[in-house]
Order: sequence, then structure tokens, then C-alpha cells
Amino acid sequence: MAFAQRLRDDDHVTLSARDLPDAPGLDAYLAAMTGNELAYCCGPAPMLEAVAARIPETRLRTERFTAVKPVGTDTSFEVELVRSGRTLTVPENRSILDVALEAGVHVLYSCTEGTCGTCETDIHQGEADHRDSVLTPAEQRANTTMMICVSRSSGGHLALDL
Ligand code: FES
Repeated sequence: MAFAQRLRDDDHVTLSARDLPDAPGLDAYLAAMTGNELAYCCGPAPMLEAVAARIPETRLRTERFTAVKPVGTDTSFEVELVRSGRTLTVPENRSILDVALEAGVHVLYSCTEGTCGTCETDIHQGEADHRDSVLTPAEQRANTTMMICVSRSSGGHLALDL
């Protein structure tokens, strides 16, 4: 809201806030979506969940400020770094990112929580256990990239473009 006045001056922006008397609600915004329009949402988790419950996942893009809680038990696995020609063991209590950095592999990263997308890495082979909040569910199912700061192997051989 620090830029509220600047946003009001832009014809492409509709500014709304819950405490404004005539502000349309979430349902009104989503009902006004047409064709293949996408909803881009960032903000508190309850709001993101409310939007996700109202529109198909293919029409929603979210940005989260907190990590998604991982489901399941972490186990150790091996990861092949194709460009580096190395295979590393990722212990149950560490991430692929941690292990790669410790091994001297150059990897870009920022949040280390699966929320920013900086560490997105191409998958050459294998299936990831996706735990990020960057990829859409469809992108996670496509299994072509993964966020190595939080996501792990879902079992079997995992080879990455590192
Ligand atoms: S460093 Fe941000 S998603 Fe991995």
C-alpha cells in the first residue's frame, strides 16, 4: 500500500483492500476472469488457499513468502551431477543444494526455502519429490525441473543438469 496512489493512477491496475467500503470481494474478482486469463497471487497463505479453492490450478500462479510444509519422511539418496561428472550422496537431513555447494559445485540460490525459484535445475533423469512453492502442480507433474534447495528424489536414480 506504500504505492497506493501511484497504482490508482495506472489504468491497468485495480486497487482493492478489505477495509475499503465498496471493495469487491474475492469471488467478484475471480468471476470476472474471462477466457484464458490467469490469476497471479501473492500474499498470506489463507488468501492463496482461498483462491486455489475457487479456480482451476491451470489458471493460478502464486508466490509464497513461506515454505510449504514437507510431506513424508526424508531419506538419503544419490544424485548424479551430469555436467560435473560426479555422483553425490544426499543425507536425510540435508538438501541437494547443501551437498552440491559443499562439493564445490557452482549453484545459484537465494531463499533456500523453495519459494524464490533461483535454484531451479533441469532434471536429466529420474523423478523429483517436489516440495517447492514455485512450480505449478502441472509443472511438478511434468518433472522437467526442480528446486534443489528443498525438493528431493522420489526414489531411484536422479540425474541433474549441474
Ligand atoms: S533457493 Fe529459492 S527456491 Fe531454491
